[in-house]
Amino acid sequence: MPSEKIFITRSHIIPEAIAYLDGIYDVEVWQQNSPPPRELLLEKVQEFGAMLTEVTDIIDADLLDAATTLKVVANRAVGLDNIDIPAATRNGILIGNTPGVLHESCADFTFGLMLALARNIAYGERKIRAKEWTVFDQIPYLGTDVHGATLGIIGMGLIGTAVARRARAFDMRIIYNSRTRKPEVESALDAEWRDDMDSVLRESDYVSLHMPLTPDTEYMIGGRELEMMQSTAFLINTTRGRTVNPRDLYDALSSGVIAGAAIDVTDPEPIPFNDPLLTLDNLLVTPHIASASRQTVRRMGQMSADNIIAAIKGEAMPGCVNPDALAMG
Ligand code: DGY
Repeated sequence: MPSEKIFITRSHIIPEAIAYLDGIYDVEVWQQNSPPPRELLLEKVQEFGAMLTEVTDIIDADLLDAATTLKVVANRAVGLDNIDIPAATRNGILIGNTPGVLHESCADFTFGLMLALARNIAYGERKIRAKEWTVFDQIPYLGTDVHGATLGIIGMGLIGTAVARRARAFDMRIIYNSRTRKPEVESALDAEWRDDMDSVLRESDYVSLHMPLTPDTEYMIGGRELEMMQSTAFLINTTRGRTVNPRDLYDALSSGVIAGAAIDVTDPEPIPFNDPLLTLDNLLVTPHIASASRQTVRRMGQMSADNIIAAIKGEAMPGCVNPDALAMG
């Protein structure tokens, strides 16, 4: 087999997968922990057969149209909003992602955010470190129960379903809206379907977002949607920052339209240190780490490597979003 050239856009995230690929192919690795510059990517798509990318590498139509040697891009993520899929397909370039290996970790994290927000775990910790807890008094830290509350899930894919499974153990009532109805989730987890998102927003104590970022879901949650939520309700976002209008979120949080929000993803990302959202006590924010357990990052790396190997061998990739690209190649 001719030695295929593989370009990997980070060196420190998935060392095992890099070593694995390096044992088979001619591998080059970008050695910094930030994305390679665009000019470099433009060179690489004219020299390398495969790329292993992160969600902050922008693989847009111009880059894909310029690609002469590229056969496959394996994104170490389930989300693909950094890649122009139609442009990849048009150019005969296969795109891989990593579904099925990260949903349980993301669901653990979603629940962590929900509990930390509702029960003031993060807020209380911030106050102690700020030297502001000087007397035993629980009243400034009174939280809201999670058990028994209504959880609204928007996007009942693998992650949404894994969140719903956890919600069962907390005796939560589960309602959901999704691109497609999931009767099997309804019967297994006693989840109730709502045929519009607005009903989910109105009825929920906690709204958890799990839809992918697409042109249809961009800024899907704005002032109108936040106004529909109860003033005691909380918003949890672990999908992509750009599904929620950040200025509208600030207004809703600062004026008491909703009780709080926990966001693992921001718009832009990283969130600038002077973003007004960071002045709010009823916002909990984390640095896009919902999938980031050691075990899951390793599994995502291995699946990305397997996607590349399968594509090079002409076999079915474990996670491919545009098999139609083969017909264009
Ligand atoms: C994903 O998989 O899309 C995550 O957001 C990145 O880890």
